[in-house]
Amino acid sequence: MLFSPEPKTSRKDLFDREKELDTLDKLIKTNKIILVTGIRRVGKTSLINVYLHEFVKKNFALVDVRTSGNSFREIYDTFSSVLTKLNRWTELRSVLRGIRGVSVFGSGVSLSWGKETRANLGEVFDRIDSLGNQTVIALDEAQRLRGSVGQVVLDILAHCYDYCENIRFVITGSEVGLLEDFLKLEDPNSPLFGRHIPELRLEGFNRKHSVSFLSNGFEEVGLAYKEEVLEKAVEYLDGIAGWLNEFGLRCIEKRVVSEDVAREVFELAAKLELDEVTKFSKNYPLLLEALGRGMNRWSQIKRYLEQRLERTLNDSELNRYLTNLIKRGFVEKKNEEYTILNPILAKHFGQLRVL
Ligand SMILES: Nc1ncnc2c1ncn2[C@@H]1O[C@H](COP(=O)(O)OP(=O)(O)O)[C@@H](O)[C@H]1O
Ligand SMILES: [Mg+2]
Repeated sequence: MLFSPEPKTSRKDLFDREKELDTLDKLIKTNKIILVTGIRRVGKTSLINVYLHEFVKKNFALVDVRTSGNSFREIYDTFSSVLTKLNRWTELRSVLRGIRGVSVFGSGVSLSWGKETRANLGEVFDRIDSLGNQTVIALDEAQRLRGSVGQVVLDILAHCYDYCENIRFVITGSEVGLLEDFLKLEDPNSPLFGRHIPELRLEGFNRKHSVSFLSNGFEEVGLAYKEEVLEKAVEYLDGIAGWLNEFGLRCIEKRVVSEDVAREVFELAAKLELDEVTKFSKNYPLLLEALGRGMNRWSQIKRYLEQRLERTLNDSELNRYLTNLIKRGFVEKKNEEYTILNPILAKHFGQLRVL
């Protein structure tokens, strides 16, 4: 089904990503590590999932590392889960035999994370590589990996890049700047320094494709619609697959394709994005408000915030706010002007003035 609550796994359910699937295939065939970036709900997990199921077909593992960044235990559990998934296709018991801290029982593989018995991940992946199977490991939402736990991941990525012929990694992130901070590709002290790691940036659908996605989805379930309502929904929700998909699901539930539902989904989307922004500082929405009102230059933003906060704001504080918003993909800077990059928030703060 084109509209479904979970990420897609099958090509027939994935709308309009043929070009991206081909690009991903080419990149994976010619690189050891590739990045897939794009804003939340644009369809990264769906694209990778479909790619793994339909192109790679076996010897792949997709794991969500959004919350794995906090402890050694969590990151080792994540890699245990990667190995358990790979174990579905190739029996790893004999391959991993004798490595300290690795146990295989039934279909599960478990890595020890305690300081004394911590499994040597380099050795584990060398053994997997020695099987000669093309293996693809996708680490989804990796931007929050940090510190010594993140270092474990960087070390293993660098090790596989240098020594493993058959292992490929796909790393995704919605917050591109944070992902770049984690990978530290430009830092001579980083294990990944100087490695070639291409990026596939996933964009939303264009207007025409967004409308077709909706019409195809409604036709699939036999729900009548008016073209102009679909146009309106796309005006609200832009080409973000996840929100168009949510619109589709809600219309199906209500058995009617209406503009009210589009507005409802837009409000939900704006609220969730706003929560995400506010989580880091309650001053961020004020800053976006300034941008939404057309105050796009440093001095204008500063003046607006000072008025709203009723205090002076020093340059380093404003710089920190703007840098963080840029790193998290909410804002972009072009020619000394800052604009809201996230389309839902851009509309919410009135920047595009289309509604
Ligand atoms: N190309 C697509 N065709 C149909 N539905 C899609 C497509 N891309 C994403 N979706 C749907 O949108 C929602 C969000 O997609 P997801 O892959 O989880 O996005 P991301 O990983 O970028 O946050 C999911 O419910 C998924 O089924
Ligand atoms: Mg995802």
